Amino acid sequence: MKIIAPSVLSADFGHLADDLQMINRSEADWLHIDVMDGTFVPNISFGFPLMKPFKQYCSKPLDVHLMIVHPEKYVERFCDAGAWSVGFHLEAVEDPMPILEMIKAKGVRTCLTINPDVDVKRLVPYLDKVDMVLLMSVFAGFGGQKFIPETMDKIRFIKAEIDKRGLKTMIEIDGGVNTANAAELFAAGADALVAGSAVFGAENPEEAIRKMKK
Ligand code: DX5
Ligand code: ZN
Repeated sequence: MKIIAPSVLSADFGHLADDLQMINRSEADWLHIDVMDGTFVPNISFGFPLMKPFKQYCSKPLDVHLMIVHPEKYVERFCDAGAWSVGFHLEAVEDPMPILEMIKAKGVRTCLTINPDVDVKRLVPYLDKVDMVLLMSVFAGFGGQKFIPETMDKIRFIKAEIDKRGLKTMIEIDGGVNTANAAELFAAGADALVAGSAVFGAENPEEAIRKMKK
């Protein structure tokens, strides 16, 4: 699968509806939504008030990435606000299972995420319990950072685990993705790529999305 999920974090919020209409016209598959709380990550983005226009103006599934402490307090509200998938960080919680169950009970897809400094092996026990794992290829918190090359081996490792067990779990990669490295990431086993600055900072965003899917 070659899924592209533009990160709305890099959109022009003064012209949000225009940017979302561009996403609708484009070959993008999902809209990636980065929620930051200023505690789990040293940055604050946006929360519930923007879920409304995302839902209203974007026709693509909303892929919510929570970079917050205590995701258990908020996952249900994101589900109710129209999320298609809700992901949170494994290293932000003590036990992800009850939180995954809360998301599942809402009929929403589940995703577990890890930052680059978390051992990828920690995801292994959950591979059959989630719809997707998200490997951060930069440290969560900001758009526009440089891709961390060590991510490639982590993708191959987790892909091999998934295949070995005959699972359908998807692999999403987030951070520093662009038209130059997308093909290599898909080839290594990624199913979905998040791209913020490489889409919204491009001269022709629709063309950039098309290129990444090739
Ligand atoms: C980083 C976010 C990413 C970010 C990606 O904390 O999770 O989704 O928006 O931005 P780029 O593609 O610019 O690295
Ligand atoms: Zn993200």
